[in-house]
Amino acid sequence: MKIGVFDSGIGGKSVADALTQAFSEHEIVFRNDAQNVPYGTKSIDEIFKLSVPIIQSLQDDGCQVIVIACNTLTTNCIVQLRNLFSVPLVGVEPMVKPACAATKSGVITVCATPRTLQSKRYLELKSQYATNNVVIEPDCSDWAHLIETNQMDNQKIVAMVEQSIAVGADQIVLGCTHYHWIEQRIIEAAAGRAAILQPEKLIIARVSQLLKKLQASNS
Ligand code: DGL
Repeated sequence: MKIGVFDSGIGGKSVADALTQAFSEHEIVFRNDAQNVPYGTKSIDEIFKLSVPIIQSLQDDGCQVIVIACNTLTTNCIVQLRNLFSVPLVGVEPMVKPACAATKSGVITVCATPRTLQSKRYLELKSQYATNNVVIEPDCSDWAHLIETNQMDNQKIVAMVEQSIAVGADQIVLGCTHYHWIEQRIIEAAAGRAAILQPEKLIIARVSQLLKKLQASNS
């Protein structure tokens, strides 16, 4: 089967690589929007319009499941996208629920794009799961661009980690798939003082569930 993966840029490539490892018997088709990345500083209307033709091309090319490997697009547009496409879309959103379940200090950090942090869905996640927690949202507004252009400097990573630790955060959520590329650097900067959460395992589990369902309905 073909599994499509879409993101504004190279964030989705990390998810596509994880899916390739998990599903060697399936074909992973990754597409991004290199001309318009980053999405996290654009309007909801703009990112919706930019993403539709690319997701359409994945559906037209026979992908039977499409992973929207972009927190920004998922948190702002997944409902409208699901209304538009018949193929199942797997979204990715900041892991607020698992972070709040795991925290001992009651303080979590969420690193995400401005558009994700302003989204209705993200605010819902916080009011559903984080009412008894403090949520730190460091300014990561230029991170996707810096990672995309391989210019992310370690000082920014260390500053985010130290800012988080200083207020007692023991969970750091990577709420943008671009940040998966700097996960190791964040783990090193945190040096065991905070857990780092990113959703690749959850995405694989969800895709696996959908593939089983599709295989059962085809047999
Ligand atoms: N990688 C995307 C995300 O998960 C988008 C980053 C961007 O284009 O600003 O949010």
